Amino acid sequence: MSNLKESLQKDIEAEQPALQNKVAADPWRLHYHQQPPTGWLNDPNGVHQKDGLYHLYYQYSPLDATGGLKYWGHKTSRDLVHFKEEDIFLYPDQDFDKDGVYSGSAFEKEGLIHFFYTGNVKHLGDHDYITSGREQNTVHMTSSDGFNIDRREVVIDSMEYPDGFTQHIRDPKILEKNGLFYMVMGGRTSDDRGAILLYESDNLSKWQYKGNLLENREELGYMWECPDFFELNGQEILLMSPQGVEQKGFEFENVYQSGYLMGKTDWNALQFKPAEDFVELDRGFDFYAPQTFLDEQNRRILWGWMGLPDTEPEYYNPTVERGWQHAMTLPRELTIEKGKLKQRPLPEYQKLRNEETKLQYNTHDSEISLTETSLTYELKIEVGQKEKSVTIQLSQDMTLQYDGQIFTLNLGKSGYGRKTRSIELSRLEQIHVFVDTSSVEIFLNDGAYVLTTRMYPTSQTRQIRFSGEADLNISKWDLNKTQ
Ligand code: FRU
Repeated sequence: MSNLKESLQKDIEAEQPALQNKVAADPWRLHYHQQPPTGWLNDPNGVHQKDGLYHLYYQYSPLDATGGLKYWGHKTSRDLVHFKEEDIFLYPDQDFDKDGVYSGSAFEKEGLIHFFYTGNVKHLGDHDYITSGREQNTVHMTSSDGFNIDRREVVIDSMEYPDGFTQHIRDPKILEKNGLFYMVMGGRTSDDRGAILLYESDNLSKWQYKGNLLENREELGYMWECPDFFELNGQEILLMSPQGVEQKGFEFENVYQSGYLMGKTDWNALQFKPAEDFVELDRGFDFYAPQTFLDEQNRRILWGWMGLPDTEPEYYNPTVERGWQHAMTLPRELTIEKGKLKQRPLPEYQKLRNEETKLQYNTHDSEISLTETSLTYELKIEVGQKEKSVTIQLSQDMTLQYDGQIFTLNLGKSGYGRKTRSIELSRLEQIHVFVDTSSVEIFLNDGAYVLTTRMYPTSQTRQIRFSGEADLNISKWDLNKTQ
């Protein structure tokens, strides 16, 4: 074990127990979402399934709820619902990653898992850390079980990146095509444009730069983080998290975005040709840096970070004072149907249901209500054909409203600065909601749109109220706690 790893481990062992007590006392801890045991969590990393076991690694600062030095935390699961917290998988303990083991991914080949991640290094001195003072090394490591690391080495040193880029190049993800391996990384060019760098290899350890996968797109900002590139139902999807996109009506309202381009790749020219504009994956307040993987049932599953960087002073998360911050979204299955990307909650989560309540609301009713018996529940509402307006009052001061072909999520005080997000929607067919103690995920029209957000309610007695000019078929289930 390296000396640095030993001393980092000692610090965690010394300080974590006190923090654990503080965190355990927080009623806003989530019941069925994945969250850090203490401290901070951001991007999902290295997600994969091997020999039946799902592995979810994540950007983790165990002792600092506001971020800081990044490790890879590790959770495993047999069913994607119940998870076990494992030992920290990766420490920032090498010269090439001493200021953070940043985001990366996993790729399985012949029974061996190849991880690629970004080793972040910051040099002392008078630097802007964009054009000087930073190293972002691409590191390769292998593991046969997802727990033990066999080998760890730099495969692309920060000095080897092409000209025309700042020092922000990171977050490798692998794709195999025509017998070769391709790596995509997100970058910021010297003239402040986002870019996807494409590398090629025939052995996973020697990589050659092949240019930018996508032509410059000015409207997509100055930096693209966390690219993911995969085939889905005969199309290609390039997923990424751009920074610096301007708001357009109800779109791109958050400080940073996450979304996708759908299209086709010319594999001779190594150019991805988008067929349409960039689409946001989630229209809520808390969603960033998603990553996908194929599971053993061949499902394309996506996890997102249920959070966002750099949101203050607009809003903040009150759990910081309670020793922790952020969580993962529920895992979602992606499909393309009739040319549109759909995101659906995994059916596995149905096993958490208990106490089913069914209710009917008719256009001519004035209001009906349900008492919330649990802090965690699922609500599925089928909306009749002639809907004009719908208002649903949820958890204390949160409302979902559909009127004038606009769907709006409204948060009151429990939003801690988060207020409203809207989507233009010509028809509202279905609303599917997952509420955890301090989070909500709203799937509209069978996964055509999703809004994810954190909220922090305080009142104990709560009612769910339905009103409006529409016929609603309502099912509600309390959801069991998994942790
Ligand atoms: C995205 C990101 C990545 C980086 C990681 C560091 O949230 O900024 O680009 O690798 O977080 O934690």
